[in-house]
Amino acid sequence: MNKLTLADLDLDRHQVLVRVDFNVPLSERPPTQPFEDVSYAVADDTRIRAALPTVRAIMEAGGRAILLSHLGRPKGQPNSSLSLAPVAEHLGGLLDGKVRFCNSTTGPLVDRTLRSMPDGTVLLLENTRFHPGETRNDADFAKDLAQLGDVFVNDAFGTAHRAHASNVGVAQRIPKAAAGLLLERELRLLGDALHHPTPPVVALLGGAKVSDKIGVIRSLAAMADHILIGGAMSYTFLKARGFNTGASLVEDDWVDDALNMFVAAAGKLKLPVDHIVSTDLRATAEARTVSRDIPAGFMGLDIGPATVERYLDILRRANTIIWNGPMGVFEKPAFAAGTHAMASGLAEVTRKNAITVVGGGDSVAAVHRAGLASQITHVSTGGGAMLQFLEGRDLPGVSVLTDRS
Ligand code: 3PG
Repeated sequence: MNKLTLADLDLDRHQVLVRVDFNVPLSERPPTQPFEDVSYAVADDTRIRAALPTVRAIMEAGGRAILLSHLGRPKGQPNSSLSLAPVAEHLGGLLDGKVRFCNSTTGPLVDRTLRSMPDGTVLLLENTRFHPGETRNDADFAKDLAQLGDVFVNDAFGTAHRAHASNVGVAQRIPKAAAGLLLERELRLLGDALHHPTPPVVALLGGAKVSDKIGVIRSLAAMADHILIGGAMSYTFLKARGFNTGASLVEDDWVDDALNMFVAAAGKLKLPVDHIVSTDLRATAEARTVSRDIPAGFMGLDIGPATVERYLDILRRANTIIWNGPMGVFEKPAFAAGTHAMASGLAEVTRKNAITVVGGGDSVAAVHRAGLASQITHVSTGGGAMLQFLEGRDLPGVSVLTDRS
């Protein structure tokens, strides 16, 4: 990577502004006293832990880390259910209490807190998306954020596909803007899988919409040996190929594109040969297995056992696998078997030295739920960012960083 990295920065006694991606799920903590408000706790800290190597490196080098992140999509308005306060509490638990929190992103309170902070400690600022200037990369907001740091580090791979004030605007206004350790690792591992893979290469793509993945399918079709399709998007492909899809989710506007893509992929693109279907999503509804045609009134909710066998057979012969998107409605036990089998398949081939990369919130959640995350070569913190990277499109949060030359 031809960009500055953390190792290129002098951190000692510096104010190091760091963009992290702490967009993590929160769970409600019910009030314990009458009249007490609902509070929130971090439900999954994977993204917080992923940023720790960079934060610790800054602390150990004697710098003060000022962390910026968004959480959810509050549309430029403060929203107590999307405050980063519970994240600060959780982060404090991971960093021996050396974390302070400010319920604003700029202004006198932030300046005062910064002045009182010893070197080697951390300040997390409030959700950057509470400010209307964040998502439109407003120059004044970016300038206010930029004056908080002597150097800037972007460690938010998950947000690298956005051009917002806290990643792009800030980087344009601080002379040295470098990639953090997580961002560097994501770009290296995803870059290796995409640009220097050991064949055979298999892409496993699921999720609801063909429209979200068509660019990725087009790009991966040029380098992968097989593209295995699952999830609801397979029904748009199956409809395009003339099969009955019953009441399954189909993007009718994308049927023609799906057919063109299928033809252009020249046999690389594999579709499910059977499905788990039901009349509705209720756990009690009867789930049954059907072959390629789905009867009227039934919707496909998972890949079937014959598809699982076919896909596993292809995965077992692969040396590089890239996975994004679940095979079915894996949150419901009746429709989780396909996604779970793919997660186990990836873990199995990783043990045999294949390189496996998983990204996207749902597939990552499925891998964690199966207890297999540690058995995958790389579990990415990016969803949309990973897809944009795989499409070969520019990531604004990366291209804005200072060139090494
Ligand atoms: C993500 O969860 O993919 C990132 O945090 C980006 O969030 P966004 O899609 O709301 O920009």
